[in-house]
Amino acid sequence: MMLNFSHTVADYRIRSFIRRQGRATAAQKQALESLWDTYCLDPNQHYDFTTVFPQSAPLIMEIGFGNGESLAKMAYENPHLNYLGIEVHRPGVGHLMLLLAQKQLTNVRLFHHDAIEILEQHISDHSLAGVQLFFPDPWQKRCHHKRRIVKPSFVDLVSKKLIPGGYFHAATDWEHYAKDMLKVLSTNKKLVNTSHDNTYCERPHYRPLTKFEQRGIRLGHGVWDLIFKTT
Ligand SMILES: C[S@@+](CC[C@H](N)C(=O)[O-])C[C@H]1O[C@@H](n2cnc3c(N)ncnc32)[C@H](O)[C@@H]1O
Repeated sequence: MMLNFSHTVADYRIRSFIRRQGRATAAQKQALESLWDTYCLDPNQHYDFTTVFPQSAPLIMEIGFGNGESLAKMAYENPHLNYLGIEVHRPGVGHLMLLLAQKQLTNVRLFHHDAIEILEQHISDHSLAGVQLFFPDPWQKRCHHKRRIVKPSFVDLVSKKLIPGGYFHAATDWEHYAKDMLKVLSTNKKLVNTSHDNTYCERPHYRPLTKFEQRGIRLGHGVWDLIFKTT
């Protein structure tokens, strides 16, 4: 159950995260032990996502779900959709599994792994109905901007994986990153901005506030939602 990154050239790329030890609570540790096989997929195996879930439904990927509270809420409110959550922070995976078990949700599966590798190695082209990226690490210092996950190569990869009419929805509370995302997303030829003025969107009703977002709001930060669709 340890992070097990395959030894490929991808090991040498700049990652959007640093491995944090992070303390799991006793309940999260218990969930990581007892619920792993129910909810977590193995990054060393290949899956047919049309058979991984009990029901056949459009597949939405959420990258970096944190503690998973907002993903669990979305999955509960949208039983007609399947969700694939990707997170490298182990206690967060434990936290979400607890919620999934409490709510008895069957439309969520997880990878404890780097989302870029999952997209590259496990997701067929034109197979995702949506990709969500809520409050990615802003990497505020200029010298760390290269770690930001939203960059042209990432957007190209995501746009290839989306079905026609599929969406990419990002949100951030860091204005500099919002502007950067808008520029990168607007440059991609496969994506179209759904905002009426080609900038940002209001938070749609289907997106719950996330833990990270609520912290930002307490600190007086703004929030920028970007929703693009494939043509
Ligand atoms: C700032 S937190 C936001 C968490 C959550 N979305 C929220 O809004 O509360 C960003 C999360 O993305 C995860 N993350 C960063 N890069 C990732 C990657 N390449 N693959 C999977 N998870 C990643 C981090 O571990 C972290 O939990």
